[in-house]
Amino acid sequence: MGVPKVKLNSGHSIPAVGLGLWKIKHERKCRETVEAALEAGYRHFDTAQIYGNEEYLGAALNESDIPRDQLFITTKLWNSEHWPDDALASFDKSLENLRTDYVDLFLIHFPVTETRRMAWEVLEEIARSGRAKSIGVSNYTTNHLETLLSECSIKPAVNQVEMHVFLQQPNLLEFCKIQGIAVEAYSPLAHGKGIDNVVLASIAHKHDKTPAQIILRWCIEIGTIPLPKSTHPDRLEQNIDIFDFKLDDEDMAAIQKLESNLRTCWDPTRVP
Ligand code: A2P
Repeated sequence: MGVPKVKLNSGHSIPAVGLGLWKIKHERKCRETVEAALEAGYRHFDTAQIYGNEEYLGAALNESDIPRDQLFITTKLWNSEHWPDDALASFDKSLENLRTDYVDLFLIHFPVTETRRMAWEVLEEIARSGRAKSIGVSNYTTNHLETLLSECSIKPAVNQVEMHVFLQQPNLLEFCKIQGIAVEAYSPLAHGKGIDNVVLASIAHKHDKTPAQIILRWCIEIGTIPLPKSTHPDRLEQNIDIFDFKLDDEDMAAIQKLESNLRTCWDPTRVP
């Protein structure tokens, strides 16, 4: 079964699962992973300037025979590049690395207090030029989003945050839903920490799926777009094979109880 698409507030569509490329730094590994992902049916790839692999992703996509308009590529503006000249130059470099003349989604990677407002204006300029089909943010809390929404001309299409069964963030999710901002879940497998959880194992057994598939299906059920990372072809396949079953109310109630405010990455909640 193919990966369905979700409509963004920009009018563009995004595949409902993407491959997260964080920590895949080695060139050969990265290129092989992207090739295996394309083979498995992935068309959505999530990188960032700071990941150091835009170039490898670009090379692997360029070598495939998949037309550009069937791919969805996201990259992110790094924290040190928020000043307008730096932001534009770094974006040009990203396009060069990715061997494309546009990205599907360009995000502000982190809500740096002093500079994020200025950076958003640059993203709006890039969106108007058509070189990013959609623009958005990452690691924004509701406070950061409220400020941005009161100042922006173009609404963010996406907020990409750490979200998984151990960090469910229902308030942020509800806020984004009301505002029409799609939520992407990064580190949706909590870096593999939940794979041997007994509750997940029992739900997995019930549906004849793996715990990873249960976690990723939960991301779909709550309306987010998960970006799991794997470098193993069998896991890559598994991680998008989540559209032929549903979690029921009992499963969802059991998973709700797994909430434990576990952050495996940044904590942006104290960033003014
Ligand atoms: P690997 O890359 O060796 O497959 P996250 O997406 O939350 O960052 O989690 C990524 C981690 O989860 C990686 O260590 C990855 O290992 C592991 N992983 C990814 N997919 C699966 C899966 N289907 N089953 C078990 N572990 C997985």
